[in-house]
Amino acid sequence: CGIVGYIGPDQAAPFLLEGMSKLEYRGYDSAGIAVFDGSKINVDKSVGRLNVLAKKVEMKPLTGNLGIGHTRWATHGRPSDANSHPHTDCTGKFVVVHNGIIENYMHIKEKLIAKGHKFTSETDTEVVAHLVEEYYEGDFEATVKKVLETIEGSYALVFMCQDEPDKLICTKQDNPLVIGLGEGENFIASDIPAIISRTRRTYILSDGEMAIVTKESVWVMNRQGVPVTKKVFEVNWDAEAAEKGGYEHFMIKEIYEQPKAVRETMTGRVEKDNSGVEFEELKWIKEDVTAIKKIAIVACGTAYHAGIVGKYLIENLARIPVEVDVASEFRYRSPLIDDQTLTIVISQSGETLDTLAALKEAKKLGSRVLAVTNVVGSSIAREADQVIYTWAGPEIAVASTKAYTTQLIIMAMLAIYMGSLKGKLPPARVRELCQELRELPNHIYELLEDVEPIKTFAQQYGFNEDVFFLGRSLDYAVALEGALKLKEISYIHAEAYAAGELKHGTLALIIEGVPVIALATQKDVYEKMLSNIKEVKARDAVVIGIGLKGDNQIEKYVDHTIYIPATDKFLTPILSVIPLQLLAYYAAVTRGCDVDKPRNLAKSVTVE
Ligand code: G6P
Repeated sequence: CGIVGYIGPDQAAPFLLEGMSKLEYRGYDSAGIAVFDGSKINVDKSVGRLNVLAKKVEMKPLTGNLGIGHTRWATHGRPSDANSHPHTDCTGKFVVVHNGIIENYMHIKEKLIAKGHKFTSETDTEVVAHLVEEYYEGDFEATVKKVLETIEGSYALVFMCQDEPDKLICTKQDNPLVIGLGEGENFIASDIPAIISRTRRTYILSDGEMAIVTKESVWVMNRQGVPVTKKVFEVNWDAEAAEKGGYEHFMIKEIYEQPKAVRETMTGRVEKDNSGVEFEELKWIKEDVTAIKKIAIVACGTAYHAGIVGKYLIENLARIPVEVDVASEFRYRSPLIDDQTLTIVISQSGETLDTLAALKEAKKLGSRVLAVTNVVGSSIAREADQVIYTWAGPEIAVASTKAYTTQLIIMAMLAIYMGSLKGKLPPARVRELCQELRELPNHIYELLEDVEPIKTFAQQYGFNEDVFFLGRSLDYAVALEGALKLKEISYIHAEAYAAGELKHGTLALIIEGVPVIALATQKDVYEKMLSNIKEVKARDAVVIGIGLKGDNQIEKYVDHTIYIPATDKFLTPILSVIPLQLLAYYAAVTRGCDVDKPRNLAKSVTVE
């Protein structure tokens, strides 16, 4: 989502609309603005493109010098006029725009409904506006502080209050927020492109900080109200670099967004006390799961690779047989599925034609269909019986990264969810898995901190024409994704092999100097994997091993080692894929490839 805010001598609406248009590249499904006209706040919002809103505003201008705007990428609640931001309370005096997820919104909403609040949307954000109304006793700043004590989750929030129209208040937690410093005017935005046409002097807010923004001043404080001295950050990026948040490509930006994306996807789903997983959107009971005799996972590309990991996880943790198919095969092979089969379709965009057709085929055969997608209201989301959304945020680079890791998170959560409902997982094991899941964002963060060795490998081997990826069990599933990433963006011929299959053909291709990426994170097959590594080393391959921290064996057999933080064996794919994404990225950069838009490929394939 995108946020903009304005306070100053000029009309607010034109700046808000312009700022929002600068965030258009990120994709969104609805937009809205709120402007104070001197006596009251007027809101206009609509589902669809920004020009739909702009036309409405042109017909019926919103005048005033104080305003906030928002472009929405739906998470809670489908794209609709009512679900668009800004959101207001019952009186219309308090207005709020929000990026992120309010984790405890259901609980707050129930309480507020009991107190007589009337809600008009399905969003988590609306509770924030009602909370302000509930708490307000004449002091806007104190009210916002109290609201922040009540809400949990991730957010960038901007508040507007009709009775105190000399200021905007904003705050953030795990979502970006920037204040643009002007002369006699100030700006607020979630992303720098929205404001660089007006100012390059900014304050970048840190987590837990709150700012009171007036025409003439910006006061930043922490949650306890203690003033914080901010350094001015001078933006010297051009407009294009600003869109990428200062990164060179969207792909690397999205790789770095993974800790946040993964955390958000678990938000409100992995219980805080690690006692289990809950899917509000499914609300299954034991019988729903015991009725499933077979699961068919269907997807394309990277999403298909997430499905392969899903098979391992669901079969192991929930003990339900799973078949995985690429959608273009599934739809034409008369699959043996019926009303006792659950079909899970995975699609980042929710628009891939083959996946959609496979979904329809599955429904025709009587199967219940569950969609896992990143785009609310997409065709696949609409056609499926039930939907689980990944909350990765918009993904722009053609090569999928954060969508994949969030799909893996869903697969893991689903496996735990079904396993517990079926009684296949003892509570202690569930707790262990949940605990490890919640550690993943920190582990990914750790992996992203030290990319130099990977960059060096990429520069060293980036000009080789063939690369092989080997792994067993879950490592094989990740090898497939690693090879795909490399092919997609660096155009290096890459093949993934189940390491045990080496001797049935691939070994013939292993000659001196050929790079082999060997994943060895799975204990059960570790020794076998080491034997495979020795086999390729004996043919003088250059081996890069991916091992778990604490494993001091692997580096004796390989040329270079990349360690990933130790985690539960079922969760390693979410970590081991990160160095492979980075390797592909830096190899592509080394070769001068068009990383975000690889030749012949499209982000969303809506043709057969
Ligand atoms: C295209 C994209 C891939 C993606 C695949 C499936 O090939 O380039 O990155 O994995 O489609 O897309 P979906 O949106 O269904 O996940």
